[in-house]
Order: sequence, then C-alpha cells, then structure tokens
Amino acid sequence: MTRYVIQGGKKLEGEINASGSKNASLPILAATILNNGITKLYNVPDIHDIKVMLQILKGFGCKIKRNSDKVIIDARNISKYEIPENLMREMRSSVMVVGALLGRFKKAKFSYPGGCDIGARPIDLHLKAFQNLGINIEEDSGYIECSCDKIIGTKIQLDFPSVGATENAMLTAILADGDTTIVNAAMEPEIIDLQNFLNKMGAKIIGAGTNEITIKGVPSLKDIGYKIIPDRIEAGTLLCCVAATGGTLNLKNVIPEHLAPVLDKLEECGCKLDIKQNEILLQAPKKLKAVDIKTMPYPGFPTDMQAIFSSMLQLAKGTSVIIENIFENRYKYTNELKRMGGKYKIEGRTAVVTGVRKLTGVNVNATDLRGGAAMVLAGLVAKGTTTINNIEYILRGYDNLDKKLNKLGAKIAKEEGV
Ligand code: UD1
Repeated sequence: MTRYVIQGGKKLEGEINASGSKNASLPILAATILNNGITKLYNVPDIHDIKVMLQILKGFGCKIKRNSDKVIIDARNISKYEIPENLMREMRSSVMVVGALLGRFKKAKFSYPGGCDIGARPIDLHLKAFQNLGINIEEDSGYIECSCDKIIGTKIQLDFPSVGATENAMLTAILADGDTTIVNAAMEPEIIDLQNFLNKMGAKIIGAGTNEITIKGVPSLKDIGYKIIPDRIEAGTLLCCVAATGGTLNLKNVIPEHLAPVLDKLEECGCKLDIKQNEILLQAPKKLKAVDIKTMPYPGFPTDMQAIFSSMLQLAKGTSVIIENIFENRYKYTNELKRMGGKYKIEGRTAVVTGVRKLTGVNVNATDLRGGAAMVLAGLVAKGTTTINNIEYILRGYDNLDKKLNKLGAKIAKEEGV
C-alpha cells in the first residue's frame, strides 16, 4: 500500500504547470490502433491509468516507446483482439479499445469494465452504438464478443450524452463505409481533442463540441504526431487546493475555457482570478464563501470536480448544497471527511456541506480517484497530520500531485510499501 502523510496548515503559493489530460489521452491512445502505422503523442501524463492502457496496447502486439511525456506507438503488427480480464477490471476506459479494435479489425473480445466505484456505470450505450453500426454482439460466461464483416455508417441516437459511448462510437465509425451521425453526443473538450487527433490522422469528423457529430468514413489513416490538451480536472484540483489554503497560484499550461464552470464557482466563492490565454492567476480570499453546485454534462459543472470542490467548501462561510446528477454513488468520500471534522448531510443525490471552523488530521482511506484528491485537499488545511491510505486510487489519475503541491509549499510525504 502507498500512502500520503500530510502536515496541514501551510499556505500554498507559486507557479505550476498542469499535465496532459488523462481523459483525452486514454481514448487517443486507444485510437492509435486504428492506424496501421506509427503515432507519436506528446503531453501524455505520468499516471497509472495510462500505464494500464499501454499494457493493453502491448498485449495486442503494439510496440511502445515512452520518454517522459512522449509516447510512440507502433500499431503495425497487431495480432490479438482480446482485452485481458484483469486489465479490463482495473480500468473502465479499457472499453475504449473496443471501438478502435472494431474500427480496424471488425472484431473484439472483452469482459465488463471496472474502474472507480462511483455508481453502476453500465456499458449499454456503448453496446447499442456498436449494434447500430451493424456489429454482432454475443455474451458468454462474462465475456462479450463483437464482430462483423463490414461497418456501415448510420445514425446513432444516444439516450444520454455519455462521454465514453460518444468516443467509442466515433472510433468504430472512422473507417466505416458511409457516414455516421451521433445525435445527443457528449460535448466535453476531450471529445474535441479526439476529433482533432483523428482528423490530423486523416479522418473526416465534424461537430465535436456540439451535440451532433458526423463522421465520414475513410479507407485508411496516416502517421502523425499530436499534443494532448491539458488536464482540466487536475488544473481545477490545484486551483481548489490553493484556494482552500488562502494562497495564490499562477497555473500554467491550461485552457481556461475548459474550466469555465469551475472558474465561475471559484469567483462566486470570493477568489480573484486573472485569466490569460494559457494561464490562470488565482488569489484566494481570507475566508471562502459557500456556493451551491449541480454537476451536469459539459459545459455544466464537471462531476469529476464535485468531491474536490465540496472538500474546499468545508471551511467556507455558510452552507453549500451540492447536487450530483451524473453518478449515483459519488459521496463515499464524505464519510472519511466527516472523520476529519467535516459537516456533511447526504440525501440521495444531494449533499449539504455546512462550513466548520477547522478540520483535524486523522487516518483516512482514499475511496476513489477524485474522492482521494478531496482528502488531500482536506489534509492541506487540517490541523496536524493527515494520513491518506490507499492512494493507489489517486495515482491512477494525478501526475505527481504530491510533488506539485510540495513545490507550492505543501508538506506531503509519499510512503510506499507500507
Ligand atoms: C468519463 C470520464 C469520467 C467522468 C465521466 C463524466 C474518461 C476516461 N472518464 O467517464 O472521468 O466522470 O466521463 O463526465 O473520460 N452510462 C450509462 N450507460 C453507458 C455509459 C454511461 O448508463 O453505456 C451512464 C453512467 O453510468 C453515468 C453517466 O452515463 O451515470 C455518464 O457516464 P459517461 O459519460 O459514459 O462517463 P465515462 O465515459 O465512463
């Protein structure tokens, strides 16, 4: 087990760069196998989920070279089309590889995906999109086998703007015969990044960033190099951590537009923001004000920021009401924060956070990726020492969070093998 030991009470100040986006890198890495060739990616974050994705690609027969944030994938000799069950269980985004395998080879075999325990997280919308595209799906002993002779462009109507289902439908349709339209598509910035990446490779996609995406099938793709967008959730996490400590931050390598709903709420809390092209300057007030939050698909407030923002609101003046509309089980972390002195009341999808004067450092367990980050934030402002166990969850999605926060003046030690 790996854990963080945090000495709280330090005001964070300074300058830091956001890393590349986890949620953009994962589908783009999966998409590299659509090209019977070599792809170079830049700004790929150093996180566990990326390692899992690279392991999956290696298992298919891809040759991979990695040098810090640069990853080169040679997908010319793929000979396997099955995703190992252990990797599928480890990370939900493994399912993204299915669309890419189907797109190029018209076959894929996998089991149901895992990931953070934040709700039911079915894959029915992914499977329905595959079926719409003429793919035959068979389920046997927990495994799902997809295959077809030909993928034919069609209209896909999503019941909900699922990020993953939109991306998987895009990947499956790139090399199809004819045009595919995805209606009620997710509009997240990571979908635009996937479109930009695929179009640079030679795909013909328009509409990402709106609720209708059209893909004109092309016969093949070409070798390219591509730089991934910055991680808006990591950026938001760093902003909230600094805001909670009453500090100042110059956050670089960000796309402020992607953070619009989060920045709006930070201002409502009393933070002063100076927003430049790829940079955000934040100055926190002495005391934050309570705000209400409702998570929504983009461009609404991101569900991935819910836990971190709510943790920051624990020391705000007043009472905040949070409504989680995307995942039904995303308040597990509040039980741990309550042990630190946080005042939460949960009812269904609503959490009421009443501001308290102080939090106290105790032993807590990270419950999931973003819930774990919420505990790091609480540890930064708590009196005394906070130990966060099971930070493997945090390492799945944050690139050196401890080092980045320490650079800003935090005191976090990472202890491995405890
Ligand atoms: C992606 C993000 C994740 C983020 C989420 C919502 C990645 C790697 N992960 O996850 O960080 O929290 O978007 O912004 O990009 N659903 C179904 N059936 C399906 C698919 C989804 O019912 O087939 C439901 C889910 O249970 C959930 C909602 O739709 O309630 C949103 O899920 P979705 O947008 O698909 O999230 P992910 O792509 O898994």
